[in-house]
Amino acid sequence: MILDGHSGEAIEEAARRLRAGELVAFPTETVYGLGADAANDAAVVGIFAAKGRPADHPLIVHVCSGAKGDEALSRFALPLPEFAMKLVHAFWPGPLTLIAPRQIGVATAAAGGQDTIGLRCPSHPVAQALLRACAERGVAGLAGPSANRFGRVSPTTASHVQGEFGDELLIIDGGPCEVGIESTIVDCSRGVPVLLRPGLITRAQIEAACGEKLRDRHDLSKPDPRASGTLEAHYAPSAKVRLMDAKALQTGLDLLGAEAKNIAVWSRAEVKSRSSHLVLRRMPDDAAAAAQVLFATLRDFDTQGVKLIWIETPPDGHDWEGVRDRLQRAAAS
Ligand code: TXA
Ligand code: MG
Repeated sequence: MILDGHSGEAIEEAARRLRAGELVAFPTETVYGLGADAANDAAVVGIFAAKGRPADHPLIVHVCSGAKGDEALSRFALPLPEFAMKLVHAFWPGPLTLIAPRQIGVATAAAGGQDTIGLRCPSHPVAQALLRACAERGVAGLAGPSANRFGRVSPTTASHVQGEFGDELLIIDGGPCEVGIESTIVDCSRGVPVLLRPGLITRAQIEAACGEKLRDRHDLSKPDPRASGTLEAHYAPSAKVRLMDAKALQTGLDLLGAEAKNIAVWSRAEVKSRSSHLVLRRMPDDAAAAAQVLFATLRDFDTQGVKLIWIETPPDGHDWEGVRDRLQRAAAS
């Protein structure tokens, strides 16, 4: 069932169900999340079951902004290092997740067995309204992975979520997501900031805000905590995705000629084909605009029944890092 998130009644109904241990899908500025009371392990186990996600892949806990949010922060995490607090002040509420040392004994299921916890304060007004209504009922945080089945494309509209989980699930509709790819994740539990997942907020912005050099996962000697968003193959549509430069793309289309069918093309460059059976879509020239439509475009190609998706390799440059990351992983499956 889809309810309009701008209605106070819908928010109350969602908060009531979450308090009772049920799952509710909710909008954020990045992608839709599948929420449960983070402090209720049984409810959180329901998320893993619904997604088909292995139990050792930890979930992010969403908290509201303001005093209630600060309370939640100290409820779930040990005191954050100074560089992490600078990130909180610079980017919350917004599309940034911080990995922090976890308070002993809280959100154990959500943490997936790690001694750390992922925390995020989303900026979407409907998410904030829901988080506040939850906090008022004693639910300090919502565990919320992207509302898709494990390994699949993240949802950026309420109807995408409905397509994943059916009509039984309560889905709070907040319109299409503005950012379109998941939050940037910075691990703050190792004394230095480490980028675990690129997103809209770039390396340069993070380094400027916290005054430290941002490390990469690969720089670390200690093995990574398990993170599904860091698996090589992820975000996969049903069709096979290939990345290539504009020239290779055009050569491929020329070779197939009028016979080309069941192929979708997403490119910044204008490409030509003699076939009238192609699904051609232009990729925006701007990284943020491309991110916003990325997952919806992949889903749309699947809906049209294509077997192959040819995508022009996005430009180098840090602003494209989040888009490159998602497309490389879609192509790795
Ligand atoms: O934008 C987002 O972050 C969305 C919206 C709904 O907030 N959520 C999202 O959640 O993308 P999910 O579960 O699909 O991806 C969260 C990523 C996973 O790769 C997970 O393994 C990682 O965060 N993660 C969560 N807690 C962690 C922890 N304690 N240590 C390391 N990685 C963690
Ligand atoms: Mg996900």
